Parts: sequence; C-alpha cells; structure tokens
Amino acid sequence: STAPPLDLNNVQGDSLIGLPKKTQTYVFFQIDDNVKGFRTQLAQLVPLITSAAQVQSHRASIAQNKKTAADKGVPPPLLKLAGVNIAFSHSGLAKLGITDEIGDTAFDGGMLADAQDLGDQGTTSGGTFTPNWIPAFKNPVHGVILISGDSHVTTAATLLEIEKIFAVGTSNATLHEVLRLVGDVRPGDEKGHEHFGFLDGISQPAVQGVDTSPNPGQETVSQGIILLGREGDTVTRPSWALDGSLIALRYLFQLVPEFDTFLKQNPIPGLPPIQGSELLGARFVGRWKSGAPIDITPTQDNPALGADPSRNNDFRYAFPDDPQTQDRCPFAAHTRKTNPRADLEDLSPPISTETRRIIRRGIQFGPEVSAVEAATGKTVQGRGLIFVAYQSNIVNGFQFIQHSWANNTGFPIDKPVTPGFDPIIGQATDPSSRTLSGTNPNAQSNTLALPTQWVVPKGGEYFFSPSIPALKSTLVL
Ligand code: HEM
Repeated sequence: STAPPLDLNNVQGDSLIGLPKKTQTYVFFQIDDNVKGFRTQLAQLVPLITSAAQVQSHRASIAQNKKTAADKGVPPPLLKLAGVNIAFSHSGLAKLGITDEIGDTAFDGGMLADAQDLGDQGTTSGGTFTPNWIPAFKNPVHGVILISGDSHVTTAATLLEIEKIFAVGTSNATLHEVLRLVGDVRPGDEKGHEHFGFLDGISQPAVQGVDTSPNPGQETVSQGIILLGREGDTVTRPSWALDGSLIALRYLFQLVPEFDTFLKQNPIPGLPPIQGSELLGARFVGRWKSGAPIDITPTQDNPALGADPSRNNDFRYAFPDDPQTQDRCPFAAHTRKTNPRADLEDLSPPISTETRRIIRRGIQFGPEVSAVEAATGKTVQGRGLIFVAYQSNIVNGFQFIQHSWANNTGFPIDKPVTPGFDPIIGQATDPSSRTLSGTNPNAQSNTLALPTQWVVPKGGEYFFSPSIPALKSTLVL
C-alpha cells in the first residue's frame, strides 16, 4: 500500500489506546435535515476529538507522576483528561450524503437488521423480525459521541461544550439526541470487574508497531486487523477510510442475581458448596473472579496471578500439550469460545485466529445489586455492559465471534464431545434450551442445562470511527 506509516495523531483515541474510563457517556444522535449546518458545526468539534497520541501521552504522564509521587512518598496529582470521540452508522453516513461504501456488509445493513442472526430474542410479524430492544435502537441512530472522563463533573462540562457547538436547544440545532447511556466503573474492589464479578479487559490483541512490548501470551496482530486500509485489512476501502475503525456496540443487560442463584444451586460436586459454585462460575468464564486463568490455576483462584499482566494471559488451552480435553477449561467457556487459541492454532493445518481478534472497550452501567435483589434472586434495576468492540472488519470480528462461535454448539470444532453454548453470551432461538458440556471436570461429557440467558441484548448499532484527517477532509464542510 502507498499509505504513509501510521501516525497516532491521526487515529481517534478509543480504538488503539482506549479513552480513560472511570465514567463514559454515550450520546446517540440523529442528524437533522440541515445537513450542511451539521457538517459546518462538526468542524468545531474536531479540535475536541482526542487522538490516540494524546491518550498515550496522558497515560505516560500518569505513570511518571505515580512514580515521582511514590519516590517522594506523596499521593500522585489528579490528571484530568476529558476524552471525546465520534462515530457514524451507515445510515448516518448516508444522511451526510457520503455514498462511498466502507465495504463491510454488517456495517452496511446495520445491527437492527443483524439482530435475528445474532440470536437476539424478538417477534416476527408479517415476515419482519423485530428484536426485543429499547425503542431508540429500533429507529435509525446516525452517530454516537463518546465522552469519557475522571468524573461526572468533567463529562457533564464537556457535554455542555459539545451541545453548544451543535446549538442544541436552539433553532440552529442540527442534531438531536435519541438516547444517552452513562457507564461507570464499579466501586471499590470491583473496579475493572464486570457485573457478574469477573475482572475484565485483560486479554486484548497487541497491535503491530503500537503495542511494542506485548505481555507474555499476548498475540500481536497486523494494524489492518483493527484499522481500515492498513496491512492485514484485505478489503478495498475508499481512501478516506484509512485509519478508521469499525465499532460493534451492544447494550447488554446482565441478570446478576439470577446468575448468582444458578451458581449457588448448581455447585460442582465433590467440593464444599461455596467452592463448587465459585468453580462453576470460573468454568463458565474461563477465568476466576480475580482474572486468574483456569487454564493455569484450575482448582482455586489466585489473585496475585490474576493481577499480574506478565502471567495472566500466558496460556493456550493446550496444557501440557493437548487442546482436546476440558480438564482445565470447558471448550465452551466464554474466553475459550471468543479466543480459542490452541483449539484452532494447533489443528493441522493450523487455523489462524488473527482476523477474529477485536479490541474491547466499553464500560459497566447500572447500580450494584441491592440486598433485596440478592435475597430474592430477581433483578429489579437494570445493569450490564455497554459492550464496544473495535475491528477493521465486523463480518470477521464481532459478528463471527457471536454468531459462529458463541452461539454455535459445535465450536470449537473437532472436539471429542459437543462443547455447547458460551454460557455467558451464547444465544439460542429458545433461550431456555442452552446447554454446555465440561463444567464438571470429573464428568466432562455431561451436559449442564442453562434455564436462563443471563445476558440480554437490548440494542446496539455498528459504527464507523473515522480517522481525524477523514473528519477534517471528508465529513466536515
Ligand atoms: C473476555 C465478560 C460480552 C468477547 C471476557 C472476560 C470476561 C468477559 C470476564 C475475561 C477477561 C479478559 O480476558 O479480558 C463478558 C460479559 C459480557 C461479555 C459479562 C456480556 C455482558 C462479550 C461479547 C463478546 C465478548 C458480546 C464478543 C462477541 C470477549 C473476548 C474476550 C472476552 C474476545 C477475550 C478472550 C481472550 O482473548 O482470552 N469477557 N463478556 N465478550 N470477551 Fe467477553
């Protein structure tokens, strides 16, 4: 390709590096009919967009400050960064009059049209399937503005600034908000853990030339697996799509008290009940709550291992050299389904997983489980994950992982027993029909029936996050 080398000043910050995420606000909007006005106002937003280079140097300053403060024995100063990114759906680009095709059929069709294939629940009438989503996502969403920061005060101030740019609330407004989602990192020791209680955001692919000192076990992918138009992206793209990235955003509710009740009622036999329930949860996810991989520590949690980036991703499901057993980790465990490592890489001939890799961002939403919810085992207040995944190719990435891996009982392929559904995110036409094998290490071909689907999608969309030069040249007026 003739593209100049990657410059992190050109890439929006959330994809390659990740905007700080103590709290994040997602503003979903529709563009009004004054498209020219929108594109003119958009020019004023561009200087606020946080680049990957900015996030990277912010991170470096935080690390330096921590070190200096530790040397002096004082607390580190708070460094504030309000991050802003913007992305557009296919219908949003069309509204702007941009008719070049990005070249991804999932993006082109939008997530609503994909919901049935993803396995979302819904109703069919007159031949049309409508998922059980919230109304905002059943109508066109043209774009999303992501605002991230260290506190609600910071994000609120930034949002106000953005609303001014688009003259929101006046007759000169060119967009209107259709939905606002606010995500917050969970409190205290639960920081970084998703609502079922498991540490998240551990395993990400390293990107060639960007993440130059990967952790042990962390595989490096070509830039074009995440960025359009870079080496490894095999699709022909419009030239202005270079260094953009495609987003799969899912609004996923989690039935936490119901999940906990199931674990409690189905402990793995042969252990004291509490440990048996903990082991079942770990075998559902592929990691203990601390993040420690069960492929490394199969019988008990090891918090020091979970917290150690030099060890917590260094495994392949082939201990000591055989991926054909689920002694340590069920074939259908969430992390094994979504990144099967040796299950594909050790086949002969080997199947590379590189084109299936995604970078996961996103954040938790909703309150902690209340005492009443815990006692009754019934969700009262909505909570879950605003799932956000970046990739250059949604058909190869998110869509494939959800449809052909998590929901596919025969995956990983060529195993001695049928793996079953990913117990965390696997979806079936009849959600109460899900089963998986291998939860009991002492009876690995037994299947366990999962009466409830604990992760419930209530919407989402596919978006294109353009490069900063593309925002300046192609999108604004
Ligand atoms: C890893 C939870 C949805 C793909 C993980 C981990 C947890 C987790 C606890 C382990 C931490 C880590 O390795 O980073 C959840 C929950 C979800 C959810 C609670 C829903 C509410 C999804 C979806 C996908 C997905 C929808 C894609 C279709 C992945 C991938 C990994 C992962 C690719 C990394 C696997 C690896 O490289 O070892 N998830 N996840 N997750 N998840 Fe999810």
